[in-house]
Amino acid sequence: MLLEVSALDVRYGRNHAVKSLDMALTDNAIVTVLGANGAGKSSLLKSIMGIVPNASGSIHFGGQDITRWSVPQRVRAGLALVPEGRQILTSLTVHENLLMGAYPRKRFSTSETNAIYDRFDNLAQRRDMSAAVLSGGEQQMLAIGRALLAKPRLMMLDEPSLGLSPLLVKQLFDLLRELHAEGLSLLLVEQNTHMALQIARYGYVLELGAVTLEGSPEELQQNRQLKAAYLGS
Ligand SMILES: Nc1ncnc2c1ncn2[C@@H]1O[C@H](COP(=O)(O)OP(=O)(O)O)[C@@H](O)[C@H]1O
Ligand SMILES: [Mg+2]
Repeated sequence: MLLEVSALDVRYGRNHAVKSLDMALTDNAIVTVLGANGAGKSSLLKSIMGIVPNASGSIHFGGQDITRWSVPQRVRAGLALVPEGRQILTSLTVHENLLMGAYPRKRFSTSETNAIYDRFDNLAQRRDMSAAVLSGGEQQMLAIGRALLAKPRLMMLDEPSLGLSPLLVKQLFDLLRELHAEGLSLLLVEQNTHMALQIARYGYVLELGAVTLEGSPEELQQNRQLKAAYLGS
């Protein structure tokens, strides 16, 4: 297993956001987490990343117990998060935002930033401009580029398609397929259930912090409750 989450609990005071959650992800997997607003999806990703502490349970990554590790330690181990809402700093240039992804690493080469600019032509053209000039789709590319600069083994994405036009959503999912083909593992939180179940090999459905359903996309698509709640049929 690349990632193993066992009996994970996340609490904000009395608010129990993630409840005794178990999850496993193999190397080069694409796993999706679905659920309504407030289900605990972002809390789960933030807890795996170490941004919010877990109240109990454990997280193993690459065979190591990372439960008490700091965020930079987890980045160096190969975890990266593309956060909800992109979290681009508009007071910085595109390039400065990109470099933030390499911050936890001891060293990296300019060939790595060049590889990211080769992939994202729009970012290359705007490299020294304020990130404020970027469109929503370009900001998402920058957030993904920034995560790639951490050289992850597992990239977690929190609702990356939110606010993007259908064409950009298609481009985003093409990019995710490309990254997966290059060997990256993906943990994808999505509102776009249809697209998520097309790309994922396995999925979890969260309700009020707990997993209520898990299985292959085929199994999830056949589930009546899921159909009623997320697939509009
Ligand atoms: N920083 C926080 N402080 C207190 N409660 C929070 C915080 N972040 C999230 N919550 C609560 O935790 C629950 C899960 O939220 P979240 O993980 O953001 O769900 P989702 O990403 O599925 O919408 C919600 O009830 C939300 O109000
Ligand atoms: Mg969220």
